[in-house]
Amino acid sequence: MTSPSTFVATKNMAMVFLLSSCLLLAASAGNFYQDFDITWGDGRAKILNNGQRLTLSLDKTSGSGFKSKKQYLFGKIDMQLKLVPGNSAGTVTAYYLSSLGSAHDEIDFEFLGNLSGDPYILHTNVFTQGKGNREQQFYLWFDPTKDFHTYSILWNPQAIIFSVEGTPIREFKNLESKGIPFPKKQPMLIYSSLWNADDWATRGGLVKTDWSQAPFTASYRNFNARACVWSTGSSSCSSNNSSGYSWLTESLDATGQEKIKWVQKNYMIYNYCTDIKRFPQGFPPECSLS
Ligand SMILES: *[C@@H]1O[C@H](CO)[C@@H](O)[C@H](O)[C@H]1NC(C)=O
Ligand SMILES: *[C@@H]1O[C@H](CO)[C@@H](O)[C@H](O)[C@H]1NC(C)=O
Ligand SMILES: *[C@@H]1O[C@H](CO)[C@@H](O)[C@H](O)[C@H]1NC(C)=O
Repeated sequence: MTSPSTFVATKNMAMVFLLSSCLLLAASAGNFYQDFDITWGDGRAKILNNGQRLTLSLDKTSGSGFKSKKQYLFGKIDMQLKLVPGNSAGTVTAYYLSSLGSAHDEIDFEFLGNLSGDPYILHTNVFTQGKGNREQQFYLWFDPTKDFHTYSILWNPQAIIFSVEGTPIREFKNLESKGIPFPKKQPMLIYSSLWNADDWATRGGLVKTDWSQAPFTASYRNFNARACVWSTGSSSCSSNNSSGYSWLTESLDATGQEKIKWVQKNYMIYNYCTDIKRFPQGFPPECSLS
């Protein structure tokens, strides 16, 4: 017998079930087979554990890389990385979003390796319509080689926010109203690669890759994208949340602003916006506006 209240409960259960299956579909947390293609490295990039894990490796002959199957136009994209341990000097692990073609847009994380015990540098950059030169570099407040840590890019029409372990480290605001281009028309793919850059990566190229330590390996897991997926000229957006697309309108609140200040004060080691030697004629306009 079904009393009115059980009926309501059952109906709610059905709703919950329906919603949670939608959420699963929308957020479908990380399967590397499903979301990525290995693009180069002749077997040095591997998808493991039924698609739950991906590794890139580098030896004297070659590095390796992968890219997303989908193109995204805005998103909140998380990936966990565990970087090359030990003596990683000379190696660079790049993890970035980039559009195709000329005058491209790009949002970069690059991890510059170092001698055992010496700190990695997290190098960031933003390209709009082919123009970059917006480097900011950071040390991390943990050893990025001991465990997996989450590196996130929030890209929505208001801003690009780089975060590490949920802590925002950099914001590139949409200042189109002030004449500064902002990426919002060109869909981007997610890319990553591990390669040798010992001509510049570690202490400006002073420390070379020690090939006796090869192969060098970086690992990836828990890819998660709430994003608008671009396909044949239109985009469809996902949320993991029945109340919608909060990431699309998310911006830094007061706490976020405080966190960025904390990171920039304690961990930022290079900021193009304060490099007077490089910009003797004056800093790029966004420097005084953001
Ligand atoms: C859903 O979004 C929240 C808030 O952004 C995030 O913390 C959580 O990990 C997400 N869950 C999934 C399954 O994507
Ligand atoms: C490597 O360690 C040296 C010495 O601590 C430091 O100056 C440098 O910033 C570190 N990182 C890189 C990538 O060179
Ligand atoms: C879903 O999003 C709303 C609006 O941003 C937020 O208030 C709520 O906490 C979120 N719920 C979950 C389960 O993430």
